[in-house]
Amino acid sequence: MSSRSHWEAVYRSRSTQAVSWYRPHLDVSLALLRQAGLDASTRLVDVGGGASTLVDDLLELGLTDITVLDLSRTALDVARERLGTRGKAVRWLAGDLLEADFVPAAFDLWHDRAVLHFLAAPEDTARYAAQVMCALRPGGHAVIGGFAPDGPERCSGLPVARRSPADIASVLGPAFRLVGVSTERHITPAGTAQIFAYALLERR
Ligand SMILES: C[S@@+](CC[C@H](N)C(=O)[O-])C[C@H]1O[C@@H](n2cnc3c(N)ncnc32)[C@H](O)[C@@H]1O
Repeated sequence: MSSRSHWEAVYRSRSTQAVSWYRPHLDVSLALLRQAGLDASTRLVDVGGGASTLVDDLLELGLTDITVLDLSRTALDVARERLGTRGKAVRWLAGDLLEADFVPAAFDLWHDRAVLHFLAAPEDTARYAAQVMCALRPGGHAVIGGFAPDGPERCSGLPVARRSPADIASVLGPAFRLVGVSTERHITPAGTAQIFAYALLERR
């Protein structure tokens, strides 16, 4: 099954509030994004945003330039429908972040919760780093979170690469400075604890 088919099948068969990564609010992400600096003019891309409520909270904070990119059009439609007319202010892109044609320096902030952790092959992580490097302006920030070294070995039935904040920083390479870290003990809707690690990185 291709990656796109996997994610479409997940979002077609499960309520978005039942998936293991669901949280009512992405509190740790929001805290790190605030640390990086958020205002109405901040240009933010949420890669692999799925149907998460981060976009709702960012709109509530007054952001006017938000892009949500995901492999699953179904997930994006769930978020768009939830937001109603507010969703018209958001750019919704269905596609693979590794293949996306980002305009250079188009964003001040890059957000990824539980997407990089699916990438382990060196060619994929190198491509991911190149995409962040292209999409972010110099001085822009990336907030990236995924399963920590003591987190689970699989997510959505797929194997993951578990990383510390320093490991995430090393994926992005020397063009990025690690300026913040956080951990999260996420409780899935089924009641299982999962440890996440987050890195806040500044593009030099
Ligand atoms: C574990 S979910 C996390 C969703 C959301 N970030 C959250 O925290 O609620 C992973 C998401 O990444 C998306 N995804 C996986 N690989 C992707 C890729 N290469 N490009 C874009 N989206 C991807 C999936 O469709 C799914 O919505």
